[in-house]
Amino acid sequence: MRTTETVIAPSLLAADFARLAEASAAVAGDADWLHVDVMDNHFVPNLTMGPPVVKSLKAATDVPLDCHLMITDPKHWAVGYAELGAYNVSFHAEACDDPVGLARDLRAAGTRAGLAVDRDTPIEPYLELLGEFDTLLIMTIKAGFGGQSFMPELLNKVRAARAAVASGDLELRIEVDGGIADDTIAQAAEAGADAFVAGTAVYGAADPAQACRRLRSLADQASRRGRGDPTPDSRPPLAGGD
Ligand code: DX5
Ligand code: ZN
Repeated sequence: MRTTETVIAPSLLAADFARLAEASAAVAGDADWLHVDVMDNHFVPNLTMGPPVVKSLKAATDVPLDCHLMITDPKHWAVGYAELGAYNVSFHAEACDDPVGLARDLRAAGTRAGLAVDRDTPIEPYLELLGEFDTLLIMTIKAGFGGQSFMPELLNKVRAARAAVASGDLELRIEVDGGIADDTIAQAAEAGADAFVAGTAVYGAADPAQACRRLRSLADQASRRGRGDPTPDSRPPLAGGD
């Protein structure tokens, strides 16, 4: 597994569902996580995949599986994904009345716990819970479908979460999901995101692996800018000379 500061997570939602093993292999050297969008036709109108597909994916690839559960009743289902070997399991705050309890169950089952926050949900009530989680998934669209336009106004949630992580000295990935592409990833990284889900931008590209590399490089540059680190472009000119 890669251990870089920027996590790139291609979303299989934009891949050919009859060729998921090939889609996984296509990004295996360049993706940090594979993002698996589980939708149940209740929490969101769309219907995608569930435990049997995750089980098969786990056998087909070594890339860590980042399961994004867009389902009602995650309390009932989420631990099952941990038991199948998911690396991270994110459930929606809107679908769970005891997020801390479920996060603890997930960690006890040996996986990372993720809290997902949909477009219309404020982040503030959850900031004090972040120590219980390993990832915070902030939707940058309304959850349910790939291929939607990125909503930059939702980055205020990323900024608030990044400030909470800094002030609490927390170890938490801030993941953004929805409309992440070459022209949007930099603003998300500058706002403080450090994990990036990309469906259309990866699997809609002629070369998915190259798309991952390009996204990573754009995010890395922007995170350095966000932190105020010097880069070759921003270094002041050398003094002296003639
Ligand atoms: C949508 C899913 C996203 C989706 C993103 O509800 O959670 O992960 O795959 O797709 P793009 O990158 O095409 O917006
Ligand atoms: Zn997702």
